[in-house]
Amino acid sequence: MKTLSPNLQIRPATASINSAGHLTIGGCDTVALAKEFGTPLWVMDEESIVQAMRACLAGLSSYPQTRIFYAGKAFLCQAMCKLIDKHGLHLDVVSGGELFTALSAGFPAHKIFMHGNNKSADEIHDAIKANGVTIVVDNHSELELIISISRALLAEDASITKVPILFRVTPGVEADTHQHIQTGHHDSKFGFAIKELDSLAEIIKKGADAVNLIGLHAHIGSQTHKIEPYLEIVDILADCFVDFKEKYGITLSLLDVGGGLGIAYNDQDKPLAMDVWAQSIAQRVKTSFSNRGLDLPTLAVEPGRSIVGTAGTTLYTAGHAKSLPSGLNYLAVDGGMADNPRPITYQALYTACIANRANAPLSTNPLTLVGKYCESGDIIIKETYIPAQTGDIVAVFGTGAYNYSMASNYNRTRRPACVLVKEGKADVIIERESVENLIQQDRVPARLLTD
Ligand code: LLP
Repeated sequence: MKTLSPNLQIRPATASINSAGHLTIGGCDTVALAKEFGTPLWVMDEESIVQAMRACLAGLSSYPQTRIFYAGKAFLCQAMCKLIDKHGLHLDVVSGGELFTALSAGFPAHKIFMHGNNKSADEIHDAIKANGVTIVVDNHSELELIISISRALLAEDASITKVPILFRVTPGVEADTHQHIQTGHHDSKFGFAIKELDSLAEIIKKGADAVNLIGLHAHIGSQTHKIEPYLEIVDILADCFVDFKEKYGITLSLLDVGGGLGIAYNDQDKPLAMDVWAQSIAQRVKTSFSNRGLDLPTLAVEPGRSIVGTAGTTLYTAGHAKSLPSGLNYLAVDGGMADNPRPITYQALYTACIANRANAPLSTNPLTLVGKYCESGDIIIKETYIPAQTGDIVAVFGTGAYNYSMASNYNRTRRPACVLVKEGKADVIIERESVENLIQQDRVPARLLTD
């Protein structure tokens, strides 16, 4: 059976156009979805997520021991936790909030990796208390803190087990991506420099009663298109495995090469297929480790965007249009940088279509699709040729990753709802916020209540 890799396409795997000329996703008419649930609306296509998980699993299938840690920072809610659990994936969380979401959804603690470059004592405590969460250690003082919290918990609760840990290593490899989302270069704020591993080995030996070092991790960055940096980090980390064994007498058993595989946001993006990415990494681990006389480690990957990015489409209603004397045409939609901060943050590019006239031929006049927020930089697509007009439902593709998870209430707007669609059925998995939600945390000091 051919492996399908949704990240190669701009539209979700199930996207189609019905006889009314409406865009459909997961068998649902998106115009009807906009009407029923309102706009802006995130529509997540379950089939695309499942295909992506399968493609990654297929790519790793020839390797003996593998784990896919879905990077929850891309998109996390309780339904997503259930979906990845159902398909055998593990989960990478990066905050107490993500950990709480996962545990509250019944996600097994032993299938969770906890990341973060500044984990608080509370976050570390909660992770250890959950029993089984692996902590990916970022720096020296954090390591000391983990050891002391673990010791205290082990002493007071016999059911708690020693916390498994990984070290996050900065491999000195640059990813082919926007500077803000590179992480593996020298001087990155994340992880340990390889030179520091000597001192870590000492600490680990002293803390052996409280922590159990099982492996190493590296992550080079996000929205990458090339395989070479991944192959490079495999070799670099394999050298570290040798050092741990020969210099410090510690045998490591898990290698985690992070995530970062890109998706196609437009016609110019040519990402690797997920199975090809995973298989190339697995192959390199085999050769790299056997060339060094090492046993094959369990191989972990942490894809986020490539699992959910293509699954997501945002539906907006087009509002006021403006044609300037300069010839510039603006069309404003009812969302923007609060539900999708990626264009303003990373100059990210997107592709759109008109959901209610999905077959409409492209116009020759460029249109600038802008949001409704009080910033000139609130532009969703700087130049599109879709002939959208006031009242149209505009669908923006590729919004499944880092949209909901980075959304804000800027201008005191309400975060949109999210529906998961499958075979003609749409289920709300995140409710639209209400105006009441917006004032829920507000408190007015007594002195302001009196005249
Ligand atoms: N593992 C680690 C340790 C990470 O830091 C990340 C992403 C991932 C895995 C998942 O990477 P992915 O497969 O999703 O590329 N907000 C940015 C992306 C930031 C990514 C941060 N770390 C954006 O919207 O492009």
